[in-house]
Amino acid sequence: MYNLKGKSAIVTGSGRKKGIGEAIIMKLAEEGCNVVITDIGAVKGQQFSKDHIGTTDEMEAIAAEARSKGVQAIAIACDVRFEEEITQLMKQVQEAFGGLDILVNNAGVGYIMEEFTEFKAESWDAVLDVNLKGAFLCSKHAARVMKGQDSGGNIINIASQAAKSGFPYAAAYTASKHGMIGLTRSNAVELGQFGIRVNAVCPNHITTGLGHWQNQFFSEKLGLDYETYLQSIKDRNPLGRTGLVEDIAKAVAFLCSDQANYITGEAMNVSGGEEYH
Ligand SMILES: NC(=O)c1ccc[n+]([C@@H]2O[C@H](COP(=O)([O-])OP(=O)(O)OC[C@H]3O[C@@H](n4cnc5c(N)ncnc54)[C@H](O)[C@@H]3O)[C@@H](O)[C@H]2O)c1
Repeated sequence: MYNLKGKSAIVTGSGRKKGIGEAIIMKLAEEGCNVVITDIGAVKGQQFSKDHIGTTDEMEAIAAEARSKGVQAIAIACDVRFEEEITQLMKQVQEAFGGLDILVNNAGVGYIMEEFTEFKAESWDAVLDVNLKGAFLCSKHAARVMKGQDSGGNIINIASQAAKSGFPYAAAYTASKHGMIGLTRSNAVELGQFGIRVNAVCPNHITTGLGHWQNQFFSEKLGLDYETYLQSIKDRNPLGRTGLVEDIAKAVAFLCSDQANYITGEAMNVSGGEEYH
């Protein structure tokens, strides 16, 4: 439908089963795009525990599934907090695919939530380092590759409803996601001259691993059982349901396609009508 045949894409944080990144990989692969599954890959201390990250085994399994759609798919571990790992990633991708057409900054930490007056500086850093600095570093190195191509490229930042509205106990997450929109707009105006379009996608709640953790956190805070809390999210949504990973993947494929070739600097809500601005 969006014809991305022969293009190549990196999706960060795409090594976790049932995540938004996995769905984006599958959608891009269905559109004929060669894909790079990249994620942190291994446990790194308490803040990046096995309950919250995509492992190398999961990354390989997702790559194998993408290959079954008839495209090339490779899995490369990369911690988006570290510039040297991103440089290596870009080098490997250029060697494998000869260039890079699409970068999706999807890696995110949404499970560190604390009362604001108790919010630890190291928790703030952990969230900002992945969600905002990681997106900045990956975009910087992807744009270097894309600038040298006649075909330019596409960068998509997976922001959030928290990029447009405030959420309690989530000062770092909310600030990081608002920051992603600033990054999107700055990059769009600076990189447009090189044929690089930069857009953000803002999902509302989706019950991925990260979303499930947030449901548990907020239902406990509100003294509701899990299902009652989840139903309350559905009840306030004009379309009466939470988001699906496929809803986000379709928006990403559209924005990367020629159907969207005059769209840049946007922060598109994919929220069933919950978010307007
Ligand atoms: N699920 C939701 O309700 C929701 C809503 C709005 C936005 N989002 C955003 O969508 C994106 C994907 O989230 P998800 O819900 O699929 O959760 P998820 O936990 O499945 O995916 C997040 C991924 O980021 C990876 N990651 C974390 N730190 C990393 C690092 N340092 N380097 C590389 N990768 C790292 C994790 O390993 C994981 O695979 C995130 O940016 C999240 O903020 C999610």
